[in-house]
Amino acid sequence: MKTRPLGNSGLDLPILSFGASSLGAEFRSITLEEAMQSTRTALDHGMNFIDTSPFYGRGMSEIMLGLGLQGVPRDSYLLGSKLGRYSDKHFDFSPKRVEESVHVSLQRLKTDHLDVLLLHDVEFVPLPQIWEETIQALIKVKEQGKVRAIGFSCYPLKTFHTVLDHIEDEIDCVLGYNRYTLQNTSFETDLLPRLQAKGIGAINAGPFSARLLTNAPLPEWLKEPEEVKAAARAAAKLCADNGVDIAELALQFACAHQGITTTVAGSANPKNIKKWAEWLAKPIDQSLLAQVQTIFEPVKNLGHNEGLPENN
Ligand SMILES: NC(=O)c1ccc[n+]([C@@H]2O[C@H](COP(=O)([O-])OP(=O)(O)OC[C@H]3O[C@@H](n4cnc5c(N)ncnc54)[C@H](OP(=O)(O)O)[C@@H]3O)[C@@H](O)[C@H]2O)c1
Repeated sequence: MKTRPLGNSGLDLPILSFGASSLGAEFRSITLEEAMQSTRTALDHGMNFIDTSPFYGRGMSEIMLGLGLQGVPRDSYLLGSKLGRYSDKHFDFSPKRVEESVHVSLQRLKTDHLDVLLLHDVEFVPLPQIWEETIQALIKVKEQGKVRAIGFSCYPLKTFHTVLDHIEDEIDCVLGYNRYTLQNTSFETDLLPRLQAKGIGAINAGPFSARLLTNAPLPEWLKEPEEVKAAARAAAKLCADNGVDIAELALQFACAHQGITTTVAGSANPKNIKKWAEWLAKPIDQSLLAQVQTIFEPVKNLGHNEGLPENN
């Protein structure tokens, strides 16, 4: 697996990483066996950066990973977790919780350090807290050697820029999701130049836009507008008519961007994870990509609001 540097952090991440929200049953119920096999399959195929959070399955994802990674040499993979988001409605970015949350994540993951630690979905809280107190607590955890790179994740571009205005000299990376895909490339156009100018690593999660760009049934919680879903169905049909799974094109497209350190894809199905590695080894079908992009043109970069209204 090719790697790219995570900004100036000193970490090199694989261009395709394994996202473990599916191990917290965020899309469908899963078995322990599926979780264990998925983790091992990802590692066996070079996806040796794993992204998780205490939010995913309310602890279940970290616990599953702790079990799945047992016996795997710690220096053979990189681990990222998050803090501050604990349920759909429960957020806590207080300094005290930062320390406690890292402690709990390390226990669940059965390790003494995280490679990446992100403030999870900061758009759900009044933002000044992030630069007035949370960031200092995060830096302290880094100085203690419990984490190597720090940053934050969110969905609204406005939130990215507001938070960066205050802490861009303090952080190593950010994570955006569903914003560098066949349908939405706003992560590249509206954020990447600023990140690159500061040496901040860019993590792109959700190449399938939470199943929108697959043939799997959509989760009920997916907020994308109906016209986006209709365009995705049309694009999937065109791909199928050409003998291609739209997920293949989606994955190849996301991973190809040289300025994005890594793309984080999620699954609890070892067969799907194995397919990703096979797809990455193949060149993208440029002609099919152009036709799919034409279908998405009328809904390009259309997304949804997330978090507090004022943060969108
Ligand atoms: N705010 C944040 O920090 C944030 C937000 C979003 C995502 N993330 C991270 O990024 C990771 C990826 O995002 P995501 O899991 O939301 O979305 P995603 O990777 O775009 O899609 C995952 C879903 O796609 C399905 N899938 C994967 N490959 C498939 C294939 N070949 N055919 C059909 N279906 C397929 C999986 O189902 P199966 O299990 O059945 O394969 C899973 O339900 C997350 O796990 C998380 O680590 C972070």
